[in-house]
Amino acid sequence: LSGLVSVKNAQAAAAQPDAPGAPMTILYGSQSGNSEALAKQLRKKARTQGFGPDVAALDSFDFDEIANIKHLLIICSTFGEGDPPDNAMKFTAKLMADDAPDLAHLEYSVCSMGDRSYTHFCKAGNDIDDRLSELGATRIADRVECDVAYEDDYAGWTESLFASQTLIDAAGDLPVGLEEDEDDGHAVGGWDKNNPYFAPVLHVENLNGEGSSKEVNHVEILLSGSGLEYEVGDALGLWPSNDPILVEEILALTGITGTNRILLKGETCPIRLALQAKLDVVTLTQSTLDALGIEGSVEDVKGLHLIDALRKWEPQVPAQGLADALRPLQPRLYSIASSPKAHPGEVHLTVGAVRYKLEGSDRKGVASTFLADRCGFGGRVGVYVHKAPHFHLTDNDTAPVIMCGPGTGIAPFRAFLEERQARKAAGAEVGESWLFFGDQHEATDFLYREQLAEMQADGTLSKLSLAWSRDGDEKVYVQDLMRKNAAEVFAWFENGGHFYICGDASRMAGDVDKALRDIIAEQGQFDEAGVQAYMDKLVDEHRYQRDVY
Ligand code: 2AM
Repeated sequence: LSGLVSVKNAQAAAAQPDAPGAPMTILYGSQSGNSEALAKQLRKKARTQGFGPDVAALDSFDFDEIANIKHLLIICSTFGEGDPPDNAMKFTAKLMADDAPDLAHLEYSVCSMGDRSYTHFCKAGNDIDDRLSELGATRIADRVECDVAYEDDYAGWTESLFASQTLIDAAGDLPVGLEEDEDDGHAVGGWDKNNPYFAPVLHVENLNGEGSSKEVNHVEILLSGSGLEYEVGDALGLWPSNDPILVEEILALTGITGTNRILLKGETCPIRLALQAKLDVVTLTQSTLDALGIEGSVEDVKGLHLIDALRKWEPQVPAQGLADALRPLQPRLYSIASSPKAHPGEVHLTVGAVRYKLEGSDRKGVASTFLADRCGFGGRVGVYVHKAPHFHLTDNDTAPVIMCGPGTGIAPFRAFLEERQARKAAGAEVGESWLFFGDQHEATDFLYREQLAEMQADGTLSKLSLAWSRDGDEKVYVQDLMRKNAAEVFAWFENGGHFYICGDASRMAGDVDKALRDIIAEQGQFDEAGVQAYMDKLVDEHRYQRDVY
């Protein structure tokens, strides 16, 4: 897939006339928006140090320009199986190419973002760092590898950058009259990741029928009065808390008394509370093993959780020792499943509960089962709105829209359809909408069945293609139905259609992308380069967007 290019950002950066300060280029590769937000934060910091940086997505940057810049800072996250994010694919490909230019003139540094619980931790950023060096460029500061709790490592990186002799020598005069904050994706309604709004849960309902192997919950949360606002396509950040039964077992195995107080980020609290609401008590990393004094390799315990290591080795540690060994708990992002026009003052989510057996014991996804099991009516949950950087329903109401969202991937499309239904009710002329949905069984896994039927009846949903993978002798997937309808899918594109994918990134999104390319090649009679040009145009026109995880 070619990058989802943030052309607007590149243009905004380019259009800034004579930004004060010494030249600097800051490029980001971002999937969910973290790296992009950090890049904008870095621009602010750089301005206070005598630089006037241009900021853009890696793929919005004209690669040939690399010959003309001297100072380059890159913040890049890693996605899927160690891949670059969508908006860093082209840059990475050009950099890795055999004919990549000599970069001896370039001074640079890379901040790699990742998640230590994945095998290919920080791979995309690290590959870029290695390759820049191989092409002769000089590091201003060593690369930093940031885990999910990235704040401290990121801050350390920026400090070493601006303390480096290279940047001290290169800095220009301090600019005067700095313009005010630009939008760097912070606090919606005053609430953000570190200051969430504790919202009442209104309703949690299992959408699957009896006998399904899936458990997908529809969750309704009250936002009235919070000032929180969202648009369809946005995500909701949600702070879970850990399973209290798991917490008690951890305390018992380590011999720690739950009321013992520990110091966490400058504040003290009982270890039991920290284990419930502030620390990741599931993920097992090498540094956790080391900090607990366990002589094992994380390679030997692949896929296992903290609790497995504790059961096996029963390390006796003081409360503070345990707290220091664990990563901070992180919020989860869920694609919003409602339109604020259809449900004023509320936000809805479609959450697949993760439950499975491992090593003979029951395992649960932290946030999904927190919502399913411990958040009935009246429970409260810390939330904030995460603006989607690259996933928006088009403002062009008459444009045809194709949505592909099997399983919980349907979430944002329920929101898109509700939005179009509301716009239509308000008098707008609304174009055609086509939903590809699928799951295992029609009888038990047809999420939002009645609502979709109503939307078909009133014309909001023009076409519904359903792929049931385990009802017949052969599996049917959403991309199979796209291929079957190839002529019509292509006609919708030719008619100005927009295409959206949401759901599984590891296989589904890639297979759907492949089907789309095949359809374009076959229906448009294009060769490979022609297909690529067609896809690039769709991306540039924001007509191909993905929300995949
Ligand atoms: P499965 O029966 O093979 O699990 C939602 O999970 C739906 O997506 C299920 O019907 C699942 O089918 C299906 N699915 C699994 N892999 C897929 C892929 N590579 N492409 C499209 N759909 C897929």
